[in-house]
Amino acid sequence: MTINPTQNLIFDPELIRHYDQPGPRYTSYPTAPHFDEGFDEKALQGALDDSNASGRPLSLYFHLPFCEHLCFYCACTKVVTRHHEWGTPYVAHLDREMALTRAHVDGDRPVDQLHFGGGTPTFLRRDDMAFLLGSIGKHFHLLPEDQGEYGIEIDPRALEPGTLRLLRDFGFNRISIGVQDLDAAVQKAVHREQSFALTADVIDAARQLGFRSVSLDLIYGLPLQTPESFARTLEAVLALRPDRLSVFNYAHLPERFPPQKRIPDADIPSPDTKLRILAESIATLQQAGYLYIGMDHFALPDDELAVAQREGSLYRNFQGYSTHAGTDLLAFGMSAIAMVGPTYSQNIKDLDTWGTTLDSGHLPVERGLRLSDEDLLRRHIITRLICDFRLDFAALNQQFDLDFRPHFATSLPALEAMAKDGLLHLDAHALTVTPRGRLLIRHICMAFDAYLAQKSVRYSRVI
Ligand SMILES: C[S@@+](CC[C@H](N)C(=O)[O-])C[C@H]1O[C@@H](n2cnc3c(N)ncnc32)[C@H](O)[C@@H]1O
Ligand code: SF4
Repeated sequence: MTINPTQNLIFDPELIRHYDQPGPRYTSYPTAPHFDEGFDEKALQGALDDSNASGRPLSLYFHLPFCEHLCFYCACTKVVTRHHEWGTPYVAHLDREMALTRAHVDGDRPVDQLHFGGGTPTFLRRDDMAFLLGSIGKHFHLLPEDQGEYGIEIDPRALEPGTLRLLRDFGFNRISIGVQDLDAAVQKAVHREQSFALTADVIDAARQLGFRSVSLDLIYGLPLQTPESFARTLEAVLALRPDRLSVFNYAHLPERFPPQKRIPDADIPSPDTKLRILAESIATLQQAGYLYIGMDHFALPDDELAVAQREGSLYRNFQGYSTHAGTDLLAFGMSAIAMVGPTYSQNIKDLDTWGTTLDSGHLPVERGLRLSDEDLLRRHIITRLICDFRLDFAALNQQFDLDFRPHFATSLPALEAMAKDGLLHLDAHALTVTPRGRLLIRHICMAFDAYLAQKSVRYSRVI
């Protein structure tokens, strides 16, 4: 067992083996498979109209789906093409989507969070990117960059010269870069060949331009990985001293993501090997001074996420962890998910239908959900557990006017069993996740998920 008393995470292989069942990652609650088609354009327009009274700040998400190459492991919603000119009608449609949305949103509500995700946002040609940035500036009131959190996902293989400067000049202040693995054989097996030098150069350029935070994505459990090869990847990556690091467990669900069929089962490391990779990676990250934020994420102690976690102001939504709570999230682009007031709404996932719906003057809503009071309560609990690893009953009872124990009587047996196994402490005042239970946070959240029994959905595992 790996124990480092100065750290906030204890790796307990027996406990992980015991609790290693599939479960949601709770980027939303209720999770996306529970959205339904009864929630339509009118419902979103109503939620937008209602949200103006609050004057809440806005958070904007843009889904930019194109990728030039297909990474076999990829579970993201993307469109693989060599036709960079497809970006031009796409950004024109985004402009239309913003105009149709703005008809229901007060223009003076400040934007304090902006995120470009994908796919590969930097697939866009520089002119198309410039058009998109101009269009966002035209429709919305962005706060100065020292007050906002403006991030973009970058694939170093798809970055035209000058694009980073364009983004920085617009106000982007953080980047996250997909690395996944640096080993040549692993890169070949997943069809993503990307040299260390290329990644290092992008980080250098971003730092010189004054980007505040650099985050890197790695995946463990990829084909041909060994504990030794992944340790080499981690060592090289740590030399770049990213502010944040995501170490995702490879979600291998070939029925849901058919390109994953090109990864033979026999090449995937065994559960025991994956467990070793995870244990050794955590120990290495701890020695290098990184803190576990939760759900695959690590950060340096002076990074904003780690500071926010210490202060109890960390928040999590579809884009991951954030320091900006209390916003309405507007989402643009095919498949993008918005969160406005007590609602979620997801856009049409098919590129052409998303575009033709906008051409006909309609918001391209495919499905969504209006949360009940009970949903809102459970979402609050799950968010606080994922961000704080603690739930204070008195504060909760006061905020939601309830009595925790009788209200969650059906959750208590599962929580008490987890308390007995050492994942959490439960007393009259609070539920506190132990350093041993932190890697299993999604299982603790599952005790509060009222939808789990309703629908059988295939989720990934912790390891
Ligand atoms: C949209 S991609 C990042 C941006 C860019 N397309 C790139 O690949 O560099 C988001 C991240 O999801 C992670 N990811 C994708 N497929 C995954 C899978 N099957 N299991 C675990 N993580 C995955 C990768 O780490 C990837 O960097
Ligand atoms: S990992 Fe990134 S670059 Fe690769 S296919 Fe997925 S979204 Fe595209």
